[in-house]
Amino acid sequence: MVVLQLSDVSRTHGSGDTAVHALRGVDLVVQAGELVAVMGPSGSGKSTLLNLFNLISSLTAAENVSLPLELDGMRPRQARKHARAALEEVGIRELTDRYPDQMSGGQQQRVAICRALVGDRRLVLADEPTGALDSVTGEAILQVLRHRCDQGAAGLLVTHEARHAAWADRVVFLRDGVVVDTTGPAPSAESLLETTGV
Ligand SMILES: Nc1ncnc2c1ncn2[C@@H]1O[C@H](COP(=O)(O)OP(=O)(O)O)[C@@H](O)[C@H]1O
Ligand SMILES: [Mg+2]
Repeated sequence: MVVLQLSDVSRTHGSGDTAVHALRGVDLVVQAGELVAVMGPSGSGKSTLLNLFNLISSLTAAENVSLPLELDGMRPRQARKHARAALEEVGIRELTDRYPDQMSGGQQQRVAICRALVGDRRLVLADEPTGALDSVTGEAILQVLRHRCDQGAAGLLVTHEARHAAWADRVVFLRDGVVVDTTGPAPSAESLLETTGV
Protein backbone atom coordinates (compact mmCIF):
# COMPACT_ATOMS: atom_id res chain seq x y z
CA MET A 1 0.00 0.00 0.00
CA VAL A 2 1.35 3.39 -1.00
CA VAL A 3 1.36 5.76 1.99
CA LEU A 4 3.25 8.64 0.45
CA GLN A 5 3.39 9.57 -3.20
CA LEU A 6 5.15 12.62 -4.57
CA SER A 7 4.94 13.22 -8.30
CA ASP A 8 7.05 15.89 -9.97
CA VAL A 9 7.16 18.02 -6.81
CA SER A 10 9.01 21.32 -6.97
CA ARG A 11 9.51 23.85 -4.22
CA THR A 12 10.96 27.34 -4.42
CA HIS A 13 12.00 29.43 -1.42
CA GLY A 14 11.64 33.14 -1.96
CA SER A 15 11.05 34.77 -5.33
CA GLY A 16 12.68 36.87 -8.00
CA ASP A 17 16.46 37.17 -8.00
CA THR A 18 16.79 35.51 -4.61
CA ALA A 19 14.61 32.49 -5.44
CA VAL A 20 16.12 29.15 -4.42
CA HIS A 21 14.81 26.09 -6.23
CA ALA A 22 15.08 23.68 -3.32
CA LEU A 23 13.24 20.82 -5.02
CA ARG A 24 12.99 20.24 -8.74
CA GLY A 25 10.65 17.59 -10.04
CA VAL A 26 11.00 15.04 -7.27
CA ASP A 27 9.20 11.72 -7.61
CA LEU A 28 9.04 9.53 -4.52
CA VAL A 29 6.86 6.66 -3.40
CA VAL A 30 6.98 5.17 0.09
CA GLN A 31 5.04 1.99 0.81
CA ALA A 32 3.62 0.85 4.11
CA GLY A 33 6.28 -1.11 5.98
CA GLU A 34 9.09 0.62 4.17
CA LEU A 35 11.76 2.89 5.65
CA VAL A 36 13.37 5.19 3.11
CA ALA A 37 16.48 7.19 3.97
CA VAL A 38 17.17 10.51 2.26
CA MET A 39 20.81 11.51 1.94
CA GLY A 40 22.64 14.29 0.18
CA PRO A 41 24.92 17.26 0.76
CA SER A 42 23.90 20.18 2.91
CA GLY A 43 21.48 22.41 0.99
CA SER A 44 20.37 19.65 -1.38
CA GLY A 45 16.72 19.94 -0.32
CA LYS A 46 16.34 17.17 2.27
CA SER A 47 14.61 19.29 4.90
CA THR A 48 12.45 20.99 2.29
CA LEU A 49 11.35 17.54 1.17
CA LEU A 50 10.25 16.59 4.67
CA ASN A 51 8.73 19.97 5.40
CA LEU A 52 6.29 19.48 2.52
CA PHE A 53 4.32 17.52 5.07
CA ASN A 54 4.59 20.16 7.77
CA LEU A 55 1.68 22.29 8.86
CA ILE A 56 -1.04 22.89 6.32
CA SER A 57 -1.53 26.63 6.12
CA SER A 58 -5.29 26.55 5.58
CA LEU A 59 -5.87 24.55 8.79
CA THR A 60 -5.73 25.69 12.42
CA ALA A 61 -3.35 24.05 14.90
CA ALA A 62 -6.13 21.80 16.20
CA GLU A 63 -7.13 20.82 12.66
CA ASN A 64 -3.51 20.15 11.69
CA VAL A 65 -2.99 17.90 14.69
CA SER A 66 -6.28 16.05 14.24
CA LEU A 67 -5.79 15.52 10.50
CA PRO A 68 -3.66 12.35 10.70
CA LEU A 69 -6.10 10.88 13.21
CA GLU A 70 -8.98 11.54 10.84
CA LEU A 71 -6.97 10.06 7.97
CA ASP A 72 -6.56 6.98 10.15
CA GLY A 73 -10.35 6.74 10.34
CA MET A 74 -11.10 8.46 13.65
CA ARG A 75 -14.33 10.48 13.79
CA PRO A 76 -13.65 14.19 13.32
CA ARG A 77 -15.15 15.21 16.65
CA GLN A 78 -13.12 12.63 18.57
CA ALA A 79 -9.98 13.46 16.60
CA ARG A 80 -10.40 17.14 17.46
CA LYS A 81 -10.74 16.22 21.14
CA HIS A 82 -7.48 14.24 21.02
CA ALA A 83 -5.78 17.11 19.22
CA ARG A 84 -6.86 19.67 21.82
CA ALA A 85 -5.64 17.38 24.61
CA ALA A 86 -2.29 16.93 22.85
CA LEU A 87 -1.85 20.69 22.35
CA GLU A 88 -2.61 21.22 26.01
CA GLU A 89 -0.12 18.53 26.99
CA VAL A 90 2.63 20.24 25.02
CA GLY A 91 1.68 23.53 26.67
CA ILE A 92 0.44 25.36 23.60
CA ARG A 93 -3.30 25.39 24.17
CA GLU A 94 -3.40 29.07 23.24
CA LEU A 95 -2.46 28.11 19.66
CA THR A 96 -5.43 25.78 19.21
CA ASP A 97 -7.42 27.99 16.84
CA ARG A 98 -4.52 29.80 15.21
CA TYR A 99 -3.36 29.30 11.65
CA PRO A 100 0.35 28.61 10.94
CA ASP A 101 0.98 32.14 9.63
CA GLN A 102 -0.25 33.47 12.97
CA MET A 103 2.49 31.57 14.78
CA SER A 104 6.24 32.02 15.18
CA GLY A 105 8.56 29.43 13.64
CA GLY A 106 9.12 27.86 17.04
CA GLN A 107 5.39 27.62 17.69
CA GLN A 108 4.85 25.99 14.30
CA GLN A 109 7.52 23.46 15.16
CA ARG A 110 5.83 22.62 18.46
CA VAL A 111 2.51 22.09 16.73
CA ALA A 112 4.25 19.85 14.18
CA ILE A 113 5.83 17.81 16.99
CA CYS A 114 2.43 17.56 18.59
CA ARG A 115 1.01 16.21 15.37
CA ALA A 116 3.81 13.65 15.14
CA LEU A 117 3.01 12.44 18.65
CA VAL A 118 -0.74 11.87 18.44
CA GLY A 119 -2.05 8.43 17.71
CA ASP A 120 -0.49 5.67 15.71
CA ARG A 121 1.31 7.32 12.84
CA ARG A 122 1.02 5.71 9.45
CA LEU A 123 3.74 7.98 8.15
CA VAL A 124 6.78 8.80 10.26
CA LEU A 125 9.04 11.65 9.14
CA ALA A 126 12.40 12.14 10.83
CA ASP A 127 14.87 14.87 9.83
CA GLU A 128 18.26 13.94 11.29
CA PRO A 129 16.53 12.71 14.45
CA THR A 130 19.82 11.67 15.99
CA GLY A 131 21.56 14.98 15.38
CA ALA A 132 21.79 16.20 18.95
CA LEU A 133 22.03 12.78 20.56
CA ASP A 134 24.87 10.51 21.60
CA SER A 135 25.32 7.44 19.43
CA VAL A 136 23.66 4.99 21.82
CA THR A 137 20.48 7.07 22.08
CA GLY A 138 20.66 7.68 18.35
CA GLU A 139 20.72 3.96 17.60
CA ALA A 140 17.77 3.45 19.96
CA ILE A 141 15.71 6.01 18.04
CA LEU A 142 16.54 4.34 14.75
CA GLN A 143 15.54 1.02 16.24
CA VAL A 144 12.16 2.45 17.22
CA LEU A 145 11.75 3.92 13.76
CA ARG A 146 12.65 0.60 12.13
CA HIS A 147 10.22 -1.20 14.42
CA ARG A 148 7.40 1.18 13.55
CA CYS A 149 8.02 0.50 9.87
CA ASP A 150 8.20 -3.26 10.43
CA GLN A 151 4.77 -2.89 12.02
CA GLY A 152 3.42 -1.24 8.90
CA ALA A 153 4.24 2.46 9.09
CA ALA A 154 5.92 4.22 6.20
CA GLY A 155 9.09 6.04 7.23
CA LEU A 156 11.17 8.79 5.68
CA LEU A 157 14.48 9.46 7.41
CA VAL A 158 16.94 12.21 6.60
CA THR A 159 20.45 11.31 7.68
CA HIS A 160 24.08 12.13 6.94
CA GLU A 161 25.41 8.85 8.18
CA ALA A 162 25.66 5.70 6.10
CA ARG A 163 25.39 3.54 9.20
CA HIS A 164 22.04 5.15 9.97
CA ALA A 165 20.88 4.79 6.40
CA ALA A 166 21.74 1.11 6.81
CA TRP A 167 18.49 0.76 8.80
CA ALA A 168 16.52 1.76 5.71
CA ASP A 169 15.15 -0.42 2.93
CA ARG A 170 16.09 2.14 0.35
CA VAL A 171 18.26 5.23 0.14
CA VAL A 172 17.29 8.21 -2.00
CA PHE A 173 20.08 10.63 -2.87
CA LEU A 174 19.29 14.29 -3.42
CA ARG A 175 21.55 16.81 -5.06
CA ASP A 176 20.51 20.38 -5.83
CA GLY A 177 16.86 19.51 -5.34
CA VAL A 178 16.93 16.55 -7.71
CA VAL A 179 16.84 12.84 -6.93
CA VAL A 180 20.11 11.66 -8.44
CA ASP A 181 20.00 8.07 -7.32
CA THR A 182 18.06 5.44 -5.44
CA THR A 183 19.66 2.37 -4.02
CA GLY A 184 19.05 -0.60 -1.77
CA PRO A 185 20.18 -0.85 1.84
CA ALA A 186 23.54 -0.35 3.49
CA PRO A 187 26.35 -2.01 1.54
CA SER A 188 25.41 -0.59 -1.86
CA ALA A 189 24.55 2.74 -0.23
CA GLU A 190 28.03 2.96 1.17
CA SER A 191 29.71 2.11 -2.08
CA LEU A 192 27.55 4.71 -3.81
CA LEU A 193 28.56 7.27 -1.22
CA GLU A 194 32.15 6.62 -2.15
CA THR A 195 31.60 6.85 -5.87
CA THR A 196 29.46 10.00 -5.79
CA GLY A 197 31.27 11.71 -2.97
CA VAL A 198 27.99 12.56 -1.22
N1 LIG B 1 13.13 29.23 4.41
C1 LIG B 1 14.03 29.31 3.43
N2 LIG B 1 14.21 30.46 2.75
C2 LIG B 1 15.09 30.54 1.73
N3 LIG B 1 15.86 29.53 1.32
C3 LIG B 1 15.73 28.35 1.96
C4 LIG B 1 14.82 28.18 3.05
N4 LIG B 1 14.91 26.90 3.49
C5 LIG B 1 15.84 26.31 2.72
N5 LIG B 1 16.34 27.17 1.80
C6 LIG B 1 17.33 26.87 0.77
O1 LIG B 1 16.85 25.76 0.03
C7 LIG B 1 17.92 24.87 -0.28
C8 LIG B 1 17.62 23.51 0.32
O2 LIG B 1 17.67 23.62 1.74
P1 LIG B 1 17.30 22.40 2.72
O3 LIG B 1 16.05 21.77 2.24
O4 LIG B 1 17.32 22.92 4.11
O5 LIG B 1 18.53 21.41 2.45
P2 LIG B 1 19.16 20.28 3.39
O6 LIG B 1 18.16 19.90 4.45
O7 LIG B 1 19.45 19.16 2.42
O8 LIG B 1 20.42 20.85 3.95
C9 LIG B 1 19.19 25.53 0.27
O9 LIG B 1 19.77 26.24 -0.79
C10 LIG B 1 18.67 26.45 1.34
O10 LIG B 1 19.54 27.54 1.52
MG1 LIG C 1 18.32 19.83 6.52
